[in-house]
Amino acid sequence: MGTSAGKPPVLLTRKLPASVMARLEAACEVEQCPGDGSAAHAELVSRVAGKQALVSMVTDTVNRAVIEAGDALRIIANVAVGYNNVDVAAARERGIIVTNTPDVLTDATADLTLALILAVTRRLGEGERWLRRGDWPGWAFDQLLGMQLRGKQLGIVGFGRIGLAVAARAAVFGMTIAHTSRSDAGMPLDRLLATSDVVSLHVPLTPETRHLIGQPELARMKRTAYLINTTRGPVVDEAALAWALKNRLIAGAGLDVYEREPEVHADLFPLENVVLAPHLGSATTETRTAMADLAVRNVIAVLGGDPPLTPVT
Ligand code: DGY
Repeated sequence: MGTSAGKPPVLLTRKLPASVMARLEAACEVEQCPGDGSAAHAELVSRVAGKQALVSMVTDTVNRAVIEAGDALRIIANVAVGYNNVDVAAARERGIIVTNTPDVLTDATADLTLALILAVTRRLGEGERWLRRGDWPGWAFDQLLGMQLRGKQLGIVGFGRIGLAVAARAAVFGMTIAHTSRSDAGMPLDRLLATSDVVSLHVPLTPETRHLIGQPELARMKRTAYLINTTRGPVVDEAALAWALKNRLIAGAGLDVYEREPEVHADLFPLENVVLAPHLGSATTETRTAMADLAVRNVIAVLGGDPPLTPVT
């Protein structure tokens, strides 16, 4: 794995957990971008030159300019299951392997999806804000009534690993499951939207899924239904969603992702019927450590001449 000068040089955009850093530093010469936010584009372009591996985060834009500047790159290891932030075609043209971190974040993301479903259908955010303002008058029989999950239909759009894990959890709550899918005979999207009480999005962001849910789709949903998005913000037309929530075209929404993160559409903030989470899908200590570890194992494998563990295909 070593170069003539010693260990192969690797660029890391964000610090990883100590145990994972130790593994990477034992095998590679690691340079880290400064700061905690997403790496500035110019910073990435200038630092990637001469590096054999780039370990990137979902917030780093690894576009053609970065890839072209990476004259020695052999692998881009994205610490996320989604890889819409990486220009995979540009990497492929140069024979650079791209890897992601599937499986290890399935449970955490499915858990967060259920948390959003429960929070919005049981009006938790609204209740907490009421209480914190000091306005809660005490228990009342018909106060903040929400929707029970048992017997309701959960429509899962995109039945991959995370969609399946959400289905298993929702079944425990007594929900029936409908799903769309690329690979088997699922329900057509239109019918799923029209018949589901909760619609949860689990498709990756691609040119085909950008604004998959816009005004016409929201209009197709039941007025009593809820939309949950834990995949990628641009899968939903956020302005159309804010309009639909304000005008009670649907009952509510639970969002973990946004079209232009960290920006959130201003019209969403005053609405009581939307729960807003700051992209927490995979945010557990265990999961983030496992994601970082998998990315680093991909780097070590590829730089050592072995096949990647989880290549993007
Ligand atoms: C992913 O893995 O795609 C997540 O969104 C990162 O938290």
